[in-house]
Amino acid sequence: MIILGIETSCDETALSLVEAAGTLENPQFRLLSATLFSQTKLHEEHGGVVPMLAKREHQKNLIPLLKKLLEESGFSKSKQEKIVEEGVKKILEREQELAPLFLEFIPTIEKPKIDAIAVTYGPGLEPALWVGVSFAKALSYTWNIPIIPVNHMEGHIVSPLLTENTKIEFPALVLLISGGHTELVLTEKWGEYKVIGKTRDDAVGEAFDKVARLLGLPYPGGPEISKLAEKQRQLGSSASKLTLPRPMLKSDDYDFSFSGLKTSVLYKLKEIGEPTAEIKSEIAREFEDAVGDVLVAKTRKAIEEFGPQTLIIAGGVSANFHIRKSFEKLAQDFPQTKLLIPPKELSTDNAIMIAGAGYINSLLKEKVASPIIDQPLEARGNLRL
Ligand code: KG4
Ligand code: ZN
Repeated sequence: MIILGIETSCDETALSLVEAAGTLENPQFRLLSATLFSQTKLHEEHGGVVPMLAKREHQKNLIPLLKKLLEESGFSKSKQEKIVEEGVKKILEREQELAPLFLEFIPTIEKPKIDAIAVTYGPGLEPALWVGVSFAKALSYTWNIPIIPVNHMEGHIVSPLLTENTKIEFPALVLLISGGHTELVLTEKWGEYKVIGKTRDDAVGEAFDKVARLLGLPYPGGPEISKLAEKQRQLGSSASKLTLPRPMLKSDDYDFSFSGLKTSVLYKLKEIGEPTAEIKSEIAREFEDAVGDVLVAKTRKAIEEFGPQTLIIAGGVSANFHIRKSFEKLAQDFPQTKLLIPPKELSTDNAIMIAGAGYINSLLKEKVASPIIDQPLEARGNLRL
């Protein structure tokens, strides 16, 4: 089946077309096309994502991205289709800027050969999520195609399957590390997830972004810290005198805490005064080392206790070079456990993983939600796994 994926949970507007086949045991995916617009430049001057700005941008970007997506996949044909304007307007009531763009473009194209629409309905920023959800509903209504609501975090879990010709053997242990989440999750089968540990305060990605800000680096800080830290590692300079704590490294559970680490950086900077470029790089490296040590130690403990067949590291922070390397090293100690990390472009938010998770959900539920306007689908900012 061909699935249109829609992702608008944060500051990435993304669409995808994925062809999916196979069973729950061995799902197979082929990417037909994908488009993504990152709003980071817009939010940069505010030092973080502004929900109402993200909402506006999603509304402006969805139709141009859909046009590009359909063109790239050869679906687009110029043929007038009749659409029920009043119905669309009602569905897009809360998306005032999307409605005219939708009504201008959609009637000019033929209904594409799409079997289902997978859309992120949570967790994330609610105003941003609503844009994707309303867009999915309006398309579903116009084209008479069912919607599959997708949990964004399940999208991250599925992400390594979208490019590699691989499958997940259960039980699997998943470390989700993103801008909003840091969770260790055990799963025996698709659709059933047990969170065995999570952060008690900041998520890892959030800590990266906050420390980057303290160092005067632009948003999003994760990739910036990563660049500085790598530079420092390549210099091969001897072990730094600058040390940061490894919060909860030895605690008797699977929880994490990263806000103290950020505060330690703040105190170090107060001690130092105006940091030189070299000190900034040293802090970046030591921060990455500290985060990596804690993530690896907790994951090691969980592998020892639960003996999973597969270990998945996913979410935006799994794009981090040092963290990827640290887990590859960890995996060498557990030959029974297969390590899966998505390629960098699938680590951060995208709609390809949403289409993938949509397919898994369609197999789980046999019958996907019917394409009706009053389907009780709502954005849920605090949705859990
Ligand atoms: O999964 P994601 O794209 O969005 C959420 O679902 O939150 O994750 C975004 C987070 C941001 O905090 C960003 O700074 C971080 O992932 N990130 C990184 C890297 N690339 C993105 N953190 C560290 N190193 C990176 N290379
Ligand atoms: Zn994400």
